[in-house]
Amino acid sequence: MTFRNALMARLGITIPIIQAPMVGASGTALAIAASDAGALGSLAAGALPPDGILRDAAKIRAETARPFAINLLMARPANPDVQSVTAAMARLKSWRDRLGLPEQAVPNRWSEDFAAQLQAVIAARPAMASFTFDCLTRDEVAALKAAGIFVCGTATSVAEARAWVDAGADAICAQGAEGGGHRGTFLGEGRADALGTFALVPAIRAATTLPLIAAGGIMDGAGIAAALMLGADAVQLGTAFLLTPEATTPQPWRDALTHAGDNDTRLTRVFSGRYARGLENEFMRKMTPAEKDVPAYPVQNALTREIRAAAAKAGNAGLMSLWAGQGVPFIRAMPAGELISTLWAEACEASAALHARMAAP
Ligand SMILES: Cc1cc2nc3c(=O)[nH]c(=O)nc-3n(C[C@H](O)[C@H](O)[C@H](O)COP(=O)(O)O)c2cc1C
Repeated sequence: MTFRNALMARLGITIPIIQAPMVGASGTALAIAASDAGALGSLAAGALPPDGILRDAAKIRAETARPFAINLLMARPANPDVQSVTAAMARLKSWRDRLGLPEQAVPNRWSEDFAAQLQAVIAARPAMASFTFDCLTRDEVAALKAAGIFVCGTATSVAEARAWVDAGADAICAQGAEGGGHRGTFLGEGRADALGTFALVPAIRAATTLPLIAAGGIMDGAGIAAALMLGADAVQLGTAFLLTPEATTPQPWRDALTHAGDNDTRLTRVFSGRYARGLENEFMRKMTPAEKDVPAYPVQNALTREIRAAAAKAGNAGLMSLWAGQGVPFIRAMPAGELISTLWAEACEASAALHARMAAP
């Protein structure tokens, strides 16, 4: 089946699937495989310094002639008060002790310098740059567009989609609450509730004519066909790629994903200070009483970094952030290229089957 739209033509892709950027689980190999398969591969550059962004973009370009995206997490400089940092460090001490980590030093910075990362993305000139956690200014969007880069902003509500339209974005990624990993919410981030993909995509479709990418809970071809039916021009899948050999998902996380049930994920802010969805584990459960007290992203994220890394090394899934979306029981372990062609074949079949059912007397 041939399926084409303006977004696909602009991005130069033949399958309307975007491999979600996933800090901690995706690197250049997954982006290359996804782009090679006709989808849009994404480099998760949120945790990369500017020279790392340029290095990884060059690596992708050296291995595939296909278009790819680069994604940034928008952390504006944090200036937390000493008291909240001290309290957060005290809360994490027993977890560090369990992992044999030394006494925590206050990090000399909380996140990468976003302005410098943005300059690196502009210099790298990917086909698309996508952003989450905040909204760019009009000038920042204009600078990306002047470099020929297609700009996509993440929205979890109609108000956020409108903010991206006002900033001059080229497309919106509508991220439903089912999705794995961090929510992109930047207006009213304190709220734990959120719109699901089925409600969010039509709401944003009705509010803007910009190309729309649906994300959250999409794991198979029927989900892709449903999202396109709701008005999306393409879909973005994260969890579906976590068991591909090209993903960098650590083994204890892979094992937990393999055994996950339909009600095993929760939204939590205890790992990073920002709501994210993952498999419930010991750290999440025991830290829940302090859920509202942990310092906001990126401070808590920086303070738990060594715990998460040491736990992964020790094979302790109870103390890692096991990001996953609600669709996790449908996860498949297969090479990314094969997964993409399977997903698209399924979407075409699902759409044809629905057509036949509706046409039946
Ligand atoms: C492990 C993991 C890491 C993620 N990291 C990022 C990221 O770095 N940047 C981003 O924009 N979205 C990130 N996301 C969210 C995805 O872009 C996407 O919204 C989400 O995966 C869609 O839901 P799904 O997981 O049900 O497919 C991440 C998701 C996962 C599962």
